[in-house]
Amino acid sequence: GLNIGPLLKDTGLVTYDPGFMNTANTKSAITYIDGDEGILRYRGYPIEQLAEHSSFLEVAYLLIYGELPTGDQLEDWDQNVRMHTMLHEDLKGFFSGFPRDAHPMPVLSSAVSALSTFYADSLDPFDEEQVHISTIRLLAKLPVIASYAFKKSLGQPMLYPDNSLNLVENFLRLSFGVPAEPYELDPDVVKALDLLLMLHADHEQNCSTSTVRLVGSSQANMFASISAGINALYGPLHGGANEAVLNMLRKIQAEGIKPEEFMEKVKNKEDGVKLMGFGHRVYKNYDPRAKIIKSTAEDILNKLGGNDELLDIARRLEEKALADDYFVERRLYPNVDFYTGVIYKAMGFPEKMFTVLFALGRLPGWIAQWRELMEDKTTKIGRPRQIYTGVQSRDYPAGR
Ligand code: ACO
Repeated sequence: GLNIGPLLKDTGLVTYDPGFMNTANTKSAITYIDGDEGILRYRGYPIEQLAEHSSFLEVAYLLIYGELPTGDQLEDWDQNVRMHTMLHEDLKGFFSGFPRDAHPMPVLSSAVSALSTFYADSLDPFDEEQVHISTIRLLAKLPVIASYAFKKSLGQPMLYPDNSLNLVENFLRLSFGVPAEPYELDPDVVKALDLLLMLHADHEQNCSTSTVRLVGSSQANMFASISAGINALYGPLHGGANEAVLNMLRKIQAEGIKPEEFMEKVKNKEDGVKLMGFGHRVYKNYDPRAKIIKSTAEDILNKLGGNDELLDIARRLEEKALADDYFVERRLYPNVDFYTGVIYKAMGFPEKMFTVLFALGRLPGWIAQWRELMEDKTTKIGRPRQIYTGVQSRDYPAGR
């Protein structure tokens, strides 16, 4: 039988819940999801309304402070972020130490971890001023770090941030601009990227956010905790799904398979093939973010003249799936990733950058959740139990 061990004897009932399917690890006032109804709200505001009226930076403020900023507060917030974009020259040295073809995600998490060494003056999780300055530093510097990781992978020189630009504009210029040539921003691309980041800004206790909380529960500083979250997001089951969608669409295009034929393969579970970008652990209805993204995908592809054929294949797969019993019975609907890869590709980002873009978007959520954890005086260090299944007890062999 199972032995629960002496550790568990004093705790009463212990649940065994692999994947934490039914275990809440915290109370939280930040994000509300109703997966059956396809509802997502940040601080009570429906995601559809925020998508229509708000911006990524405003939503970051909302998630972190609980209320929408006044006009003055938003201006201060924006200015503060613009003024903290510079990276210390020594931190920039990090980028040259990685191999040329380094994946930008581990570069991102390493650089964020290194922020603890460069900003040792703001590591106290219980000092309001220090938490504030760390918040600003992270929001301002992560897009710069991300674009430097991208430039590194291209073998191109890095540009200095430009404080006259906002967060998204700066990131686009740093990613696609080259020295001595003016970079012309496309307002439609700025708007679309701002929206995509906003839609990813929080999603309650997903794997990376729970990681940020677990690491933070040891009172690890914000940079250390969020670096751990970035590593959790790096896993293909979490942050890598949009890349998988794009690969699937490309394969269908390259092999000239009809969407109908592909659907048959999926339904017959041939070689374990799945319709990537469909289904979600929590949403058993249309992912509300996917609905918003779908129309952006159409607008931006019309504008940029990206690979329309891929979008076409995506549309036809979606249409077929929504009318198919297999998907209806299993309550499989498009998730947020179904269209994001196609959009990012049209903007000029390679697949390697997709998860990095997810991380940029998710940052305000990680910060808000870490801060909520630190402000909660009842927080205990996270320490799950286990069910021990090994050998109970034996003696070390005599004479060995
Ligand atoms: N295509 C075909 N069949 C599917 C799909 C899919 N995309 N997703 C689930 N199913 C089927 C399963 O085979 C299973 O069928 P069965 O009852 O005949 O065995 C049934 O639907 C239930 O699926 P589960 O895997 O048990 O559902 P779960 O909630 O554990 O998984 C998940 C959710 C992992 C997202 C799954 O739907 C999937 O693999 N989707 C494709 C990958 C993807 O798009 N991931 C991104 C998620 S969003 C995000 O991370 C931001």
